[in-house]
Formats: sequence, structure tokens, C-alpha cells
Amino acid sequence: MTLCFTRTIHSLPFKHPRFSLSNPSKRPISNFLPHSSSKSPPLLRPISPKPHLPLFLRPPASSATFSDLQKFHSWAKGLAFSVGSKFLDSDNGPDTDLLCREIKWLLEDAVDDTSMLPHLGSSQNPNLTGSKLIRLKVDLDDLYSLWNQRIEERRPFQYIVGCEHWRDFVLCVEEGVLIPRPETEMIVDMVEEVVSKEKGLGKGLWADLGTGSGAIGIGIGRILEEGGRVIATDVSEVAVSVATFNVQRYGLQDKVEIRQGSWFEPIEDVMGKLAGLVSNPPYIPRDQIPRLQAEVGKHEPRLALDGGENGMDELLHLCEGSSFALGSGGFFAFETNGDEQSELVADIMTSKSENSFRDVKIKTDMAGIHRFVTGFRR
Ligand SMILES: C[S@@+](CC[C@H](N)C(=O)[O-])C[C@H]1O[C@@H](n2cnc3c(N)ncnc32)[C@H](O)[C@@H]1O
Repeated sequence: MTLCFTRTIHSLPFKHPRFSLSNPSKRPISNFLPHSSSKSPPLLRPISPKPHLPLFLRPPASSATFSDLQKFHSWAKGLAFSVGSKFLDSDNGPDTDLLCREIKWLLEDAVDDTSMLPHLGSSQNPNLTGSKLIRLKVDLDDLYSLWNQRIEERRPFQYIVGCEHWRDFVLCVEEGVLIPRPETEMIVDMVEEVVSKEKGLGKGLWADLGTGSGAIGIGIGRILEEGGRVIATDVSEVAVSVATFNVQRYGLQDKVEIRQGSWFEPIEDVMGKLAGLVSNPPYIPRDQIPRLQAEVGKHEPRLALDGGENGMDELLHLCEGSSFALGSGGFFAFETNGDEQSELVADIMTSKSENSFRDVKIKTDMAGIHRFVTGFRR
């Protein structure tokens, strides 16, 4: 979990320098980056246990004239230009370029027939009169309101459109659920590798603890062999409902089971039987949360971020429980905040767990940060 809102980047953990991802087609996400002003209170939004339908999945129940949509487009760009590099300078937030790209993505999700979008900015188009009706998946008034929230409240783009592109799928997200980060995709890559090498693991039972949107659980569910299953858990009611929705949308109900509860509690019945255990737990040191990028600190759930005083509370709990949860030969992969945390986790898993684990390794993310700790139960 790292955090910064730009489409080209994104695994920027706290204190680490910016870098570009090689996959620029991804939509933005955010980095846990410090910012100077941390006074804004968390934004309270009613959250419903029934997930909101993301824009792109909604029926085109509304419409606006081409000329009204042009007015929206030019107003939205005006707001984006008024930002300049203000957010970028204060907390590595989005700049005008990125916001302009977001307007394009927002319209792609909101408009039924996207073929007219390239003509929005031009004054002449023989085939499009200003009065032509364009079918929309959201009222024009709501579109204004959404873009205003993006700029004025720094509401994350993913919560505005209700989804995030992650690996080769699109996950629904909303307030109360962490927006999955690109570096977390690597956990699924590691599982894919291990499953291809270690016989039997692909047919076994896996657990993704703290599943949020269901990202890792779904990713693993899609690569396991016949007979392989994942139990994906979260203590948050909203996360459980969003993850359930995402699992159903991909038709993975037989492969991925969502359970609610705290860490090992909902998997008591399978303790000692797991072929694999993965988690991207909350790991941000508490005193760093007020300095995160506004999109993250003001809008993403504290429950998903706050790892206690030094960020290690939940990771320590996972380390303790994993020797009881994994069966012999079982694989684990934990995401951490980086260098110090991963060293601590690796140290615990290597030496302090009564030699329960072998081949404990620290693995780097795309930014070269020591992000993950992996290993096997003896
Ligand atoms: C950093 S987020 C990761 C979400 C998701 N796995 C991902 O990578 O996008 C941590 C998740 O842990 C969940 N969580 C926090 N405390 C928990 C607990 N005691 N038991 C289970 N899940 C918990 C949060 O609700 C959140 O969804």
C-alpha cells in the first residue's frame, strides 16, 4: 500500500522518492506522502453496506445536450488549471496535467457513447450540433458536483468514479475501502510463481487477511488450480460488502469466500491447514497519518492505514498467527511500509518464531523498496 495520485506512478511510500511505472495505462492511485497541512478533519460520508454501483456500470438514465456537456468540460478544465502545481507542491497531490486526464477518464465512464468525447473541446464539428442529446450515466448536476468534490475536497478520483483498475480487472471501490495500490499486485505475482513451482499449493486453501476491495483474494482466486480456494477476510463491514460484490462480478463465488472478522478469528476452522497466507495490513505509523497526501489521509479509511505507534501492530499479530495458520510447506507473503518494517518482520519470521519458517526473504517493489516479506512454513 503506497500512496500518490498520478496515473503514471505510484508506489511511493512515505519518504521514498517518486518514480514512474512502466504501465501508463493505469489509472491513478495515491502514495503515502507527507504534506505540510494536516489540519483538515476526516470527511464524513454516509457509507452503506450495499456497495454503490460504479459509474461505468450504471445504465444511461440521464442525458444532456452536447453543448451543455461542452460547458461542463470547459468548466472542469478551468478548475483543473486553477490547481496548477499547488497540490503537487504541498503533498505530492495531482497537478493540472493529471487532473485534465482525470476529466477525460471521468467522461469516459459517465457518457454512454464515448465516440463524441474527442470533439468536446473543439468548436466545429459538422456531425454534432449543440442540441444533440448525449446519454449520461449520471445527471449533469451530479457530474458538476463530483468534479467539485475532486478539486475542493481532494476526494480521490477512484471514489468519484467508484472503481480502480488493478491487474487485469476493474475493482469497485468506495469510501470505507482502501483503493488497491499497484505494488500490491506483486503479491499475486509472487503467489503465481510459488504455485507454479511448489506442487500442491495451487490446489490448496489460501487466506487473504484484510482483503479490502478483495483485490489480492480475487487475484489469487483467478490463478489457483482446480480445487484451490481463498478465504478473504476483513473486519470492516463496508470492505466485506464491496469485496463480496467484486467477487460476484467476476463470478468467483466458488473460488473466493468472503468472511468478516478480525485477523485469524474468522479462519479459526482452518487454522493449521492453509497452503498460503497473504496480507497487506495497515502499516502506517500513526503519527505519519496527518501528513499523508490529502486524498489518502482525509478520505481513505483510517482502519486500513493505521498500524499503531510504529506501524507494526498488525504485522506483529500476523507474524504470531501465521505459524498456527499455515500447514507444513505453506507460503506466506506480507506487505510492509518498507525497509525497517520488512527487516523486523523478516527477523521475527526467521529467528523468533522457534524456527517455524524457512527461506524467509525480503522482496522489493517496483520502486526498489524492501516492501514484502515472504517465506515458507517448515
Ligand atoms: C492496507 S488495507 C489493504 C486492503 C487490501 N488488501 C489491498 O491490498 O488493497 C488493510 C485492510 O485491513 C483491514 N483491517 C484492519 N484491521 C483489521 C482487523 N483487525 N482484522 C481484519 N482486517 C483488518 C482494513 O479494513 C483494510 O481493508
